[in-house]
Amino acid sequence: MFETLKAHQAKVADRRFEEMCDAARAAAFTAQTGDLILDYAKTNIDATALGLLIDLLNQTGVAAKRDAMFEGQPINETEGRAVLHTALRNLDGDPVIVDGKDVIPAVRATLDRMAGFAEQVRSGTFKGQGGAITDVINIGIGGSDLGPAMAVRALSPYHDGPRCHFVSNVDPADIAEVLRSCDPATTLVIVASKTFTTIETMTNARTAKAWMGETVNDPAAQFAALSTAADKTGAFGIPSDRVFGFEDWVGGRYSMWGPIGLSLMIAIGPDAFRAFLRGGQAMDTHFRAAEWPENLPALLALVGIWHNQVCGYATRAVLPYDNRLGRLPAYLQQLEMESNGKRVSMDGVDLPVDSGPVVWGEPGTNGQHAFYQLIHQGTRVVPCEFLIAARGHEPELHHQHQLLIANCLAQSEALMRGRSLEEATAIMAAKGLTGAELDRQARHRVFPGNRPSVTIAYPTLDPFTLGQIIALYEHRVFVEGAVLGINSYDQWGVELGKELATALQPVIEGKADATGKDGSTAALVAYLRQNGA
Ligand code: F6P
Repeated sequence: MFETLKAHQAKVADRRFEEMCDAARAAAFTAQTGDLILDYAKTNIDATALGLLIDLLNQTGVAAKRDAMFEGQPINETEGRAVLHTALRNLDGDPVIVDGKDVIPAVRATLDRMAGFAEQVRSGTFKGQGGAITDVINIGIGGSDLGPAMAVRALSPYHDGPRCHFVSNVDPADIAEVLRSCDPATTLVIVASKTFTTIETMTNARTAKAWMGETVNDPAAQFAALSTAADKTGAFGIPSDRVFGFEDWVGGRYSMWGPIGLSLMIAIGPDAFRAFLRGGQAMDTHFRAAEWPENLPALLALVGIWHNQVCGYATRAVLPYDNRLGRLPAYLQQLEMESNGKRVSMDGVDLPVDSGPVVWGEPGTNGQHAFYQLIHQGTRVVPCEFLIAARGHEPELHHQHQLLIANCLAQSEALMRGRSLEEATAIMAAKGLTGAELDRQARHRVFPGNRPSVTIAYPTLDPFTLGQIIALYEHRVFVEGAVLGINSYDQWGVELGKELATALQPVIEGKADATGKDGSTAALVAYLRQNGA
């Protein structure tokens, strides 16, 4: 399947794609839905490559797989589950039938309950022992943390509810610092855990309950739970009217659209939260309807496949020139790497190509003063994904935003153009260098260029746009996984470490010895115990 693509790539690998990048190419290799655009003109993908990539979508039946997902078929085959996070943002679409039942009425009823509770908290009708809620602490990890934490930061200009804090790490430093900054009498703790068994979350939830119990007579009265496990939330002492449930067809890393988004809803209000859902729903509609050459999630996936499985670039950098998207790379690390970091296809056969790439990044311009050196002059090619808004939320500082835009566009231009030895030599010669010193200095100033990037641009980062962006990435992950034939919706790779941690706990506590452990682990246990563990 990939052979033809690889053969084409080998043929065109050395060409300077800058030379193709005229206005016609920019128009042809930019796709748009609503106000959001995806520019992939600064890549080496040409019409032939695009045609072959689209063939890949057809050969692997991506359209049928997409429809199966939206229709609620159990495409998460290793767990026998449907994959229906799209139902959570289906505000006015068709019924979705799972096991003979339309799931949409329950989804909308839960959304209304969330909205009712969020309004009570925001208006001060729901009170802590000490009065109106001033602080909300979301305790969760992975998908029960990264989505709302990312979105609360992204949408800070819309944040008019109580302060929101996020505790995820079992490292006591995380919760200790948050608790220190809150008054238990006016704090609401939200325990966010799909399974309500995750050791980090349950440990932090117990710590928070004990902290609150030192001041508040009925700590459970200031707790809410977001989970699929109603029995376990009850056992923890949280009354059912403050439990917001969802079904197992919502994967953890896809769950911020429903109850797991409660902290976001409390922060920005139900109307803005619905605008976020509408943005996701708009991307769903586009993904289902647009032809592949105009389909943003499909195109973003094909660019990813071209760079990763065809060109062999092992990582991709996500570089938001939008400081409020500072947590987007971390969010995408889970979304993409937990979904597509799989070594066997759905039927258990080894993949013939690499699995999904390593995803990493930081906001620009900060990254420019840190790791961009490697991106520009290192020996490895790192495909980059830039995100940029036309407008910020600080009109009085618009000129500063223009400087941000200039930097973003300059980076993708520099990656593509590079600087030749001749150009570098001319620059250094103009500074007065000559002879061997000129040669030596010039070589350090060469940029190979021909380094690919895509740019996602939008008018401004509002709730609707954030919904579009997140759904765009979700569907990109879906398409990449569907082409590879893997199950993007399980995560068995996280289990072994959990099991070993559980077994090691009594060894660390000195209640069991390290018999049977490898030499390195046993020695590390001994060192840490000798030093106070
Ligand atoms: O260990 C991985 C994982 O299962 C993620 O997939 C999930 O988002 C996270 O842990 C948290 O799980 P839960 O919401 O059940 O606490």
